[in-house]
Amino acid sequence: MSLEERAQSAGPTPERPHARVNVGQMLLVGAIASALGIALGLLIDWFPVAASEEAGPIDTLWDVLLIASIPVFVLVTTVVLFAVLKFRMRPGEENLDGPPIHGNTRLEVIWTAIPAILLVGLCTYSFVVLEDVEALERDRIEVRVVGEQFAWTYYYDRDGEEVASRQLVLPIDRQVRFTLQSKDVIHDFWVPAFRIKKDAVPGIDVTYSVTPNRLGTFPVVCAELCGLGHAVMRSQARVVEQQEFESWLAEVGQPAQDEEGGDEGGGGGGEADPKALFASEGCGGCHTLADAGTTGTTGPDLDDVLQGKDEAFIRQAIVEPDAEIAEGYQGGIMPPNYEETIPGPQLDALVQYLSEVTQGG
Ligand code: CUA
Repeated sequence: MSLEERAQSAGPTPERPHARVNVGQMLLVGAIASALGIALGLLIDWFPVAASEEAGPIDTLWDVLLIASIPVFVLVTTVVLFAVLKFRMRPGEENLDGPPIHGNTRLEVIWTAIPAILLVGLCTYSFVVLEDVEALERDRIEVRVVGEQFAWTYYYDRDGEEVASRQLVLPIDRQVRFTLQSKDVIHDFWVPAFRIKKDAVPGIDVTYSVTPNRLGTFPVVCAELCGLGHAVMRSQARVVEQQEFESWLAEVGQPAQDEEGGDEGGGGGGEADPKALFASEGCGGCHTLADAGTTGTTGPDLDDVLQGKDEAFIRQAIVEPDAEIAEGYQGGIMPPNYEETIPGPQLDALVQYLSEVTQGG
């Protein structure tokens, strides 16, 4: 039975005496709720610290979208609440039905035109911001970002030779263009402080660029569920001065020269300290190691599984993690390319360090 037929079969339909909407009242409630919603929306600190030039326009875009969408949400909610309050069926009204409404051209034009204008306006604005954010600069640096279960590796161009690093180091105030690639499944390369994120898809090169403008260390996360180790697929982005970047790039992926004794400079980030390396490589995210104060449980507890093992075993466990898998754990989670990203002498130092701290005397 159509609405119309029902309306006719119900005979004359006396209007409900209480079914009167005070439009002025409804608008007032809606306006107050919108104002409160917008104030709350703008007060909330949605994002982490901003560390790129792109963050400004993107955060403003977010605020504008909030201001535009909150009144729409409030309008719909207010009308629904008023309808429920005013038009709900009361005892004895089971057979009553309101008068049927046929087309209301003015209303239809309004509710089509307003959303259309809003959408076109917001799309245009978003497009302008996107164009602005994606403009490439001539002196940019290029970094190839490769995702795999479950690690990121960064490849830099050093005088025509490609060098790999497990840590993302970027010079301040200089545009960097990332080319995202994946070796296995879809990952998503995201530095929340830079605001932009995109998927790394197997077989496709995806690019985006940012210009870091704040010194410091910021988390890099994978934002696409990619398997068991997704939550630990993290690394760090370190934004440094141009000069520091250059000296870092000159040494990365390269056997550090003459590591006897301590290196005083500190500029290179304490290359000879295996404990620092254990931290910067993110080992503790998955492994428990008392000496380093880490408590990860995704991978085996190193204090336990390495006890009584020789250095050859430890080295193999790092560079060929799936050769022998500890009981109760799953293979394929630890990245198999540490030999590529940790320079030889540092790897030696790490193996020796792990051997020393896990022998448990
Ligand atoms: Cu890679 Cu989630």
